[in-house]
Amino acid sequence: MSVVSLRNEGDVAVITVDNPPVNALKHEVRAGLLDAFKKAGADANVKAIVLNCAGRTFIAGADITEFGKPPKEPGLSEVIATIENVQKPTVAAIHGTALGGGLETALGCHFRVAVATAKVGLPEIKLGILPGAGGTQRLPRLAGMEKAFPMIISGDPISAKDALAHGIVDEIIDGDLLAGAIAFAKKKVAEGAKLVRVRDREEKIADLKANPDKFNDIIAANSKKNRGEEAPVVTTEVLRGAITKSFDEGLKGEREGFMKLVVGDQSKAKRHYFFAEREAAKVPDMSKDVKPKTVKKAGVIGAGTMGGGITMNFANAGIPVTIVEMTEEALNRGLGIIRKNYENTMRRGGISQADLDKRMSLIKGSTDFNDLSDADLVIEAVFEEMPIKKEVFAKLEKVTRPDTILATNTSYLNVDEIAATTGRVPNVLGMHFFSPANVMKLLEIVRGKNTSDEALATAIDVARKINKVPTIVGVCHGFVGNRMLKARGIEAESLLLEGALPQEVDAATTGFGFPMGPFAMSDLAGLDIGWRIRKAMGQKSEIFDSLCELGRYGQKTGSGVYRYEGGSRTPIPDEVTEQIIVNASKNAGIKRRPISQQEIGERLIFSMINEGARILEEGIAMRPSDIDVVYVNGYGWPVWQGGPMFYADLVGLPYIVEKLEGYAKESGNEHLQPAALLKRLAAEGRGFSSLGVSPIKKAA
Ligand code: CAA
Repeated sequence: MSVVSLRNEGDVAVITVDNPPVNALKHEVRAGLLDAFKKAGADANVKAIVLNCAGRTFIAGADITEFGKPPKEPGLSEVIATIENVQKPTVAAIHGTALGGGLETALGCHFRVAVATAKVGLPEIKLGILPGAGGTQRLPRLAGMEKAFPMIISGDPISAKDALAHGIVDEIIDGDLLAGAIAFAKKKVAEGAKLVRVRDREEKIADLKANPDKFNDIIAANSKKNRGEEAPVVTTEVLRGAITKSFDEGLKGEREGFMKLVVGDQSKAKRHYFFAEREAAKVPDMSKDVKPKTVKKAGVIGAGTMGGGITMNFANAGIPVTIVEMTEEALNRGLGIIRKNYENTMRRGGISQADLDKRMSLIKGSTDFNDLSDADLVIEAVFEEMPIKKEVFAKLEKVTRPDTILATNTSYLNVDEIAATTGRVPNVLGMHFFSPANVMKLLEIVRGKNTSDEALATAIDVARKINKVPTIVGVCHGFVGNRMLKARGIEAESLLLEGALPQEVDAATTGFGFPMGPFAMSDLAGLDIGWRIRKAMGQKSEIFDSLCELGRYGQKTGSGVYRYEGGSRTPIPDEVTEQIIVNASKNAGIKRRPISQQEIGERLIFSMINEGARILEEGIAMRPSDIDVVYVNGYGWPVWQGGPMFYADLVGLPYIVEKLEGYAKESGNEHLQPAALLKRLAAEGRGFSSLGVSPIKKAA
């Protein structure tokens, strides 16, 4: 069947795109649209044309898999120019999402109608590119630059209602969309409506054209910290062209900007990430027949920071959740914090009072484990100690139904050992959330060696329902994320001892694009956490133990690695810390040396990549791109750098091996010795991306 069909309903031609799953504009669709609009335009029996889509959505954009391949005619711009020049009313009928090239196609029509649930947007920036088929020039003309600029720079879609308010959509259709769109088209014919191409609408940008300096105010009003990302910079200038150039010159600028960005590494990285995120929850060795259980009721053990955040996720998704604490006092404290969080969101306009009330009504507090008897899934988020976890799971087994899925939110501990304390090992797995758990997107789902497919499928399904990005990992100390972070932490501390200062280490990290360096991060999290764990495990760190002994726990005490003045969160390098570090080097018999930003950056990043290679070697992650998903979503790895394993391929594995070997020799740090997999791939001239997918190893 053809991906684009044309039929006449009376004197209205209906052109329908049917290219599942999301009607992306692959070559055949572009060619089909061109052909159909030409035919309908020339058909004397046709008075108006409606463009609609079959399936779950309007056109969701260009076919991303075609980027980087040789272009095939017709290009989308040619298709849109043809649509735009049709001398009869053209109406795009939008449901689902009209995104990127999809919205640009709709902007080629004279009119747009939509169902109330539809969304429209130009998300190209999220793929490291810019709208390449006239979106940067047409949307400002249609909606005004004040609306178009933030839409294009953020890439976030807007609702049909918002689109209506800004003239992007002309009418919201209640009931059947196609019937409504045809009626709308007939009305325009009957009215003899003037057909104005979007490119010719100048009124909304007339003021800016006369006062182009005002464009800088729009930039300022939408400024976001840009840590080295190219697309926002290029896009801003292309958008400026909409008010400083003619439409055709503006289009030319857009094309040049698009071509520049689309071949760049940042766009490749973002496109890699788009597909990586969608792959991460696919489990190749899980039976296709397995169905997830529906979680109608959830339970959470522990009302601390993590437990509270996890609970909010369920309430936000409309799933009733019971939160259990040991004492009334701890429970009330936890519930109070949840309420306060919601109140803060309400103050910022994120939710209404009714939303708040509804969410709080879905949360039931209890000090009695028996209140979990009807839960379909219980997530434990108690103190990170094995004996406590075991005790909780033993209790859970007694009070819950035999089919209830039991999950632990442990960040490090052995999920198989926890599962073994119950008589229902297949129903146990890890669901590792990241703090703040109501905000962070990542969910590491830890598949134990005997976790059932049904439990795994349920965890993946529920993760999506509570708006998380699930990634499946295997059992090892720290799983994927924290295990790799530990490798970086060892290196960061070693760099301090060898001669670097915290601000230099942090600068190399933010210079790479992370929002924060490791030391600013530990000040935020609290140095006392690591101190307590070290004491429990009989470990020492001269630098960090000394800071804690001085009561310097981080931001919360006004000083940690850095100093914080007047309640500010800005880290100020501190002589006290420097002295502690210099003493620690001396006590360790290390002669301090200046260390370049390049060496710092490479040791931090390559040590993580090396650990990632070990994780793959051991079968703890299914694919290299899963590790990228963990890092982008959970640890602030800049998405335009693709994630650690994508970045490794970009840098080249032979270079990384050579550098790691050199740094290992110089520093004496054994963990810097390249992993066997890394060496093998480098020797074979391969990258991580050549590895494909292999199931999580169900090792003993
Ligand atoms: N090209 C190719 N494949 C796409 C695609 C696209 N634009 N959009 C989605 N897909 C694929 C996904 O990879 C996924 O494939 P699998 O089932 O094999 O994993 C499938 O379609 C379904 O996608 P989702 O799982 O994301 O489905 P969803 O219902 O959750 O979301 C969506 C639908 C909102 C449209 C979402 O897929 C999305 O945001 N897609 C990208 C939209 C986009 O970025 N468009 C702009 C493209 S660039 C452009 O248009 C440039 C230009 O100027 C011409």
